[in-house]
Amino acid sequence: SDRTNVAIIGMGTVGAGVARLLIDHGDRTARHAGKTIWLSKAVVRDLSKPRGIDLPEGVLTDSIDDVLNDPEIDVVIQLMGGLSPAREVMLRAMEAGKDIVTANKALLAEHGAELFTRARELGRSIAFEAAVAGGIPIIANISQCLSANQIESLEGILNGTSNFIVSQMDEKGAGYDETVKRAQELGYAEADPAMDVDGTDAAQKLAILSHLAFGATVDWRDIPRSGIDGLDPADLIYARELGYRIKLLATAQLVDGELELSVAPTLVAIGTPMAEVRDAFNAIRVVGDAVGPVFYHGLGAGQMPTASAVVADVIDTAVGRTPITFETLEYFSAERPPRTAQRD
Ligand code: NAP
Ligand code: HSE
Repeated sequence: SDRTNVAIIGMGTVGAGVARLLIDHGDRTARHAGKTIWLSKAVVRDLSKPRGIDLPEGVLTDSIDDVLNDPEIDVVIQLMGGLSPAREVMLRAMEAGKDIVTANKALLAEHGAELFTRARELGRSIAFEAAVAGGIPIIANISQCLSANQIESLEGILNGTSNFIVSQMDEKGAGYDETVKRAQELGYAEADPAMDVDGTDAAQKLAILSHLAFGATVDWRDIPRSGIDGLDPADLIYARELGYRIKLLATAQLVDGELELSVAPTLVAIGTPMAEVRDAFNAIRVVGDAVGPVFYHGLGAGQMPTASAVVADVIDTAVGRTPITFETLEYFSAERPPRTAQRD
C-alpha cells in the first residue's frame, strides 16, 4: 500500500515528540519511506491534559482498543512506559497483526525473551532503537554496522538523567534534589526517577546491548550495580583535584571468554572524550576486533532526540527493513543457550 497507518500509545514526553515529527514533517518521512506515514490514533489516559501539539480531529483517544481493534493500523508505537499493561498491549497488538516500535527498555529487559519469541512466532517485528541511548543509533550500529566484528568491550554513559545530575553538581555546584527535579521537568527522567539514579535504567540498557553485542542472555538484576544516588558532592571535588570526573559508567568486557558486566560511578580522566560528556548526553565506546575502538556521542534522553530514533524505526518498519533481523532476535529467545562464556 502507498500508506502505512500508525498509532502512538502513550503521548507523554516521547509520544508528543513523535507525533510532532509525524505531523509536521510528513514530507520527510514520506521521502524516506517512499510512502505516507499516517498518524491514525494517539492513546492517552487523561484526555483533558494539554499535549502541546495540535492533533487532527479524531486522533486522540483514551481507548487502547480503538487501536488494537482497528485492522487498518499497521504499526503500534508503544510509548506508555512501565511493565503492565505495556506487556499485554504489545502482545495483543502483535496478535492483531501489528508491528511494534518502542522505547521501553524496562519492558524489553524484563520480558524481552517472551516478546521477541512471540514476535517470531507471529512474523512481526519489534524495533527499539530509542530504548538505549536516546538519539544515538547504537542498536543499529551494533546489530548491523559492526556485525563483522567480535565485540570485545563496550563502555558507556547510558543514563542521561544521572549524567545531567552529576554534570550540574560538578560544574555548577547545583544541589542533588533540585537537579533531580530539573531533570524531571526537562523530560529526561523515568516516571520513577529512582530507576535513573540507582543504576537500574543503565543496567537494563546494558543487558539489551549485551544481548546484541555478545549474544549473551543477561538478567539485568545480575549486573553488579550502584548509582549516583550515594554520591557525596565532596567526591566530585576530590576527583576533580586529582584530574578526574565521576561518571556513571556501564561496562561489558570479554575477559578470557567470560563476560564481565557492571554499572558504577567511575573515575574518568579529565581530557578523555568520556569525561567531557555533559548534561543529558550519552556516549558509548565500543571495541571490535576488526574495527578497533569506535566512539558514539549524542543526546541520550529528552523529547526530540528520542523521537528521532523512534521515527527512524517507524520508517524502517514501514518499508520492512527493521535492523533487528530474525537472526539477532534469536539472542532474545529463551531457547537459545547463553553464549556468555564463548569466544567463537
Ligand atoms: P511519560 O512522559 O510518562 O509518558 C507516558 C505516556 O503514557 C503518558 O501520555 C500517559 O498518559 C500514557 N499512559 C501511561 N499508562 C497508560 C495507559 N494504561 N493507557 C494509556 N496511556 C497510558 O513517559 P516518556 O518519558 O514519554 O517515556 C515513554 C517511554 O519511553 C518509557 O518507556 C521510557 O522509559 C522511554 N524513554 C524515555 C526517554 C525520555 O527521554 N523521556 C528516552 C528514551 C526512552 P497520560 O499523559 O494521559 O498520563
Ligand atoms: N530516563 C532515561 C535517561 C531516558 O535518563 O537516560 C532515556 O532512556
